[in-house]
Amino acid sequence: MLEQPRRLESVQTERGSIPVYATGTVEQPWAQYTATDHTVWQQLYARQQALLVGRACDAFLAAQEKLRMPADHIPHFSDLNQILTAATGWQIVAVEGLLPELDFFTHLANRRFPVSWWIRRPDQIDYLEEPDLFHDLFGHVPLLMEPLFADYLQAYGQGGIKAHGLGPDALMQLARLYWYTVEFGLIRQADGLRIYGAGIVSSKGESIYSLESAAPNRLGFDLERVMRTRYRIDSFQQTYFVIDSFEQLISTTLADFAPLYARLAGQDPIPADAVLDGDAVL
Ligand code: PHE
Ligand code: FE
Repeated sequence: MLEQPRRLESVQTERGSIPVYATGTVEQPWAQYTATDHTVWQQLYARQQALLVGRACDAFLAAQEKLRMPADHIPHFSDLNQILTAATGWQIVAVEGLLPELDFFTHLANRRFPVSWWIRRPDQIDYLEEPDLFHDLFGHVPLLMEPLFADYLQAYGQGGIKAHGLGPDALMQLARLYWYTVEFGLIRQADGLRIYGAGIVSSKGESIYSLESAAPNRLGFDLERVMRTRYRIDSFQQTYFVIDSFEQLISTTLADFAPLYARLAGQDPIPADAVLDGDAVL
């Protein structure tokens, strides 16, 4: 159905050889998944699904229903792509792991979301250092069904290509925006705070902590504040930024960031746990 990019070469993985395409993507080697892989998916899926009712935002839950990922085995990306591409023009592409920044941005700018094809081992169910299939697919893909979020992520990719040309300060500031929205964002719904960030929805511990713990700060979304705020990669977040809607997310990130990057480059970063005078603490 979808056009496959040109085949470049092959990589040897623990489980055999997989073709690599010119875009750095591979073909999802679905037949190579073991019974253990499918069981890991099934366990993670059941556990998160139970937690997310009443915690994930409505858009995420509605998108999940439309995507119909199987609960008992690892989905075929091609099945999901039929639904996803028809809805918003996005597609999932399989990758071996994290891509170089510019390649990642280029995929997003073209409405392709890279998903690691491999899944964690049973002893890594609760915590994993690099993104695997469960995080990428279960966490990130549902919101690609939401038209506003789908547009935001494409715009982010385009912004990333531009920031890449501007240098490391710009890239750092833009990376913070991704972290505090796409990965760890919260949203205010009429019936209360909800999760939309993929790093939270794919984590048992953080799904509960981000909403229910008294420890972290929950601050109203402020673009400049976000771009100055450091983040932790080795623990739950000390600060979450809360958007009012995906419209707000899109409209506050529409402007050209170049002048903003230049202005912020001269300012000190804000520690991950700080609360400042002007912050809207929720
Ligand atoms: N408006 C941003 C820019 O000019 C692009 C962007 C959009 C970045 C949405 C992030 C999210 O760089
Ligand atoms: Fe992620």
